[in-house]
Amino acid sequence: MEDKAAQKIILSGIKPTGQLTIGNLIGAMNNFVKLQHDYDTLYMVADLHALTVPQEPKELRHKTLSIIAQYIAVGLDPEKNDLFIQSHVTGHTELSWILGCLTGLGDLSRMTQFKDKSSKPGANINAGLFTYPVLMASDILLYNADYVPVGEDQKQHVELTRDIAMKFNFRYSDTFTIPEPIIPKTGARIMDLQNPLSKMGKSDSGESGRIALIDDPVMVSKRIRSAVTDSGSEIIYSDSDEKAGIRNLLTIYTNLTDKSVPEIEKMYEGRGYGDFKKDLADIVVEKLRPIKEKHDELMNNKDYLESVLKNGASNAQKKAWKVLSKVYRKVGLVQTGR
Ligand code: AMP
Ligand code: TRP
Repeated sequence: MEDKAAQKIILSGIKPTGQLTIGNLIGAMNNFVKLQHDYDTLYMVADLHALTVPQEPKELRHKTLSIIAQYIAVGLDPEKNDLFIQSHVTGHTELSWILGCLTGLGDLSRMTQFKDKSSKPGANINAGLFTYPVLMASDILLYNADYVPVGEDQKQHVELTRDIAMKFNFRYSDTFTIPEPIIPKTGARIMDLQNPLSKMGKSDSGESGRIALIDDPVMVSKRIRSAVTDSGSEIIYSDSDEKAGIRNLLTIYTNLTDKSVPEIEKMYEGRGYGDFKKDLADIVVEKLRPIKEKHDELMNNKDYLESVLKNGASNAQKKAWKVLSKVYRKVGLVQTGR
């Protein structure tokens, strides 16, 4: 890769609200891994974002570390990437305040994720849930990221980030890079195995509809084999709602192997869903096995994880200060060179 690309900055994050799923892997983490070689990459665990829904403190700490371990387990090299926890770097919430003062209530009310979450029966609609996208914009703009690898559901938040950055630049002169999302062509929205018309979520899918990266292999196999399909028998990729189940399984298959969808369709011509699901179950199990093993090993080596986190946060902090102090100066906050 050319030097220029090496200077481009990538930032992304995942919130520790549950176990990472194969949706997170295919929609976001596979790109994290690919991009690490050619860019200046920062990947964080968005623990402050997780607080927008009630969390059990002990569990939150565990899940946060577990995601860092899974980042490394899927292939992110701590030497090549700044791996850190959002709350370890000063600047995310500070910038969020400043950007919040530039963001319209109307813009935040339009956010699909907020509308979905707040319309659920018994939803806890707190101010954090509403201003969540402003904190996400701060995560991205604090490092002047050029690209943000995410799944489909986060596209709207990155678009809002772009709008906020443009507004700031217009009002206070050029400061922020306008970031672009990187969304996979296929697999940007992996669906629930039991309800293939809704997204596979860490916390909002039922247990049998999702597959976590560190699930027990017997369970993984069982869940794939009992995924909802349709009353037909043809393994073909079709956009119809009726074929949503098989379409989702084909998407998982193509993303976890080097086979294209037409190749897979051909391989299973004349064979039934049973054969197809059994093979896919084996593929998923084999893909996840080393991830779980590495994760479990790292979770038993907290000293190592802590050293990765200290190093990641220290690198990220240096980058964050530069941008934050520039922002403070531009908006008119007095600085005394602390
Ligand atoms: P979250 O789990 O909401 O913190 O999401 C972390 C990242 O994974 C974001 O980039 C999401 O867009 C992506 N992601 C989450 N669920 C899925 C899914 N079912 N399919 C594809 N990408 C997903
Ligand atoms: N909101 C993102 C999600 O739920 C997680 C996230 C927080 C994020 N900050 C980010 C993603 C910054 C990309 C960039 O998926």
